[in-house]
Amino acid sequence: MKIGIIGTGAIGGIITKKLAVTGHEVKVYSSGGQQKLEERARELGVIPSTKDQIIVDVEVLIVSIPTIAIPELSDLIAKVSDKVIVIDTSNYYPFRDGDIEDLKNGKVESVWVSETLDRPVIKAFNNLLAHSLEYGGKPQGAKDRIAMAVSGDDAEAKRIVSALVNDAGFDAVDAGTLANSWRHQPGTPAYCTELAVAELKQALADGEKQEAAHLRDYVIGKFIKFSTPPTHEEVVVLNRSLFPKNPKAH
Ligand SMILES: NC(=O)c1ccc[n+]([C@@H]2O[C@H](COP(=O)([O-])OP(=O)(O)OC[C@H]3O[C@@H](n4cnc5c(N)ncnc54)[C@H](OP(=O)(O)O)[C@@H]3O)[C@@H](O)[C@H]2O)c1
Repeated sequence: MKIGIIGTGAIGGIITKKLAVTGHEVKVYSSGGQQKLEERARELGVIPSTKDQIIVDVEVLIVSIPTIAIPELSDLIAKVSDKVIVIDTSNYYPFRDGDIEDLKNGKVESVWVSETLDRPVIKAFNNLLAHSLEYGGKPQGAKDRIAMAVSGDDAEAKRIVSALVNDAGFDAVDAGTLANSWRHQPGTPAYCTELAVAELKQALADGEKQEAAHLRDYVIGKFIKFSTPPTHEEVVVLNRSLFPKNPKAH
């Protein structure tokens, strides 16, 4: 497919690499300046684009930037064809994104993104850590393949995004509508716990919306106290341990 990716950081960069090596035609754009973008695109093995061109002649547009920066894209996204599937990978972290009143008041994150960009989005690639995305992928059918949640209101768009998730090395699990996508936001059992399909389905069902923001901030508070940055394994173990029903929590 022809794919534009906005944001070439940890997540946008890995998605770029994964989709490019499976034969997709990927171009990238990020806001840090032309030279930085060209170097990053070379590193990722794809074409650097421009802010105007990243939305042109694409079937899928992946937005992978911090939540606080999403409103900066609204003018650009207003020019995107209705036929283009827009994927939102974002997760709201107040320590990084500051106070966004609607989100602090419990609005579902990707619903806020969809309203801010004034168009439908599919939420995907948000509930696995960058490390899991980079190293945790397996071929389709492999034992214990990690699963990823996909939410949205357009069944055909979700089918296409799920195929991209599969190409990236993960099983896709339909997590329902965009309004339901809080079930794979930070602070839920489905978030960055590296579960296989059946476990992820259970975790999506087990989430408790009113607990999520508190647990998200609790986890960040724990990490801040580490004298050295936690390893990937430590992050996953802590995330799993918050949810005793999670079969991998023990
Ligand atoms: N890291 C993870 O494990 C993880 C996992 C799942 C989802 N997510 C979510 O995915 C999103 C991206 O995360 P990340 O870890 O990849 O962040 P990151 O490493 O900080 O990268 C952010 C990227 O966004 C670009 N950017 C920032 N503002 C922009 C704007 N207005 N227009 C265009 N590009 C802009 C930056 O450009 P420059 O580099 O040019 O400055 C950078 O390439 C976040 O919402 C995050 O919560 C992260």
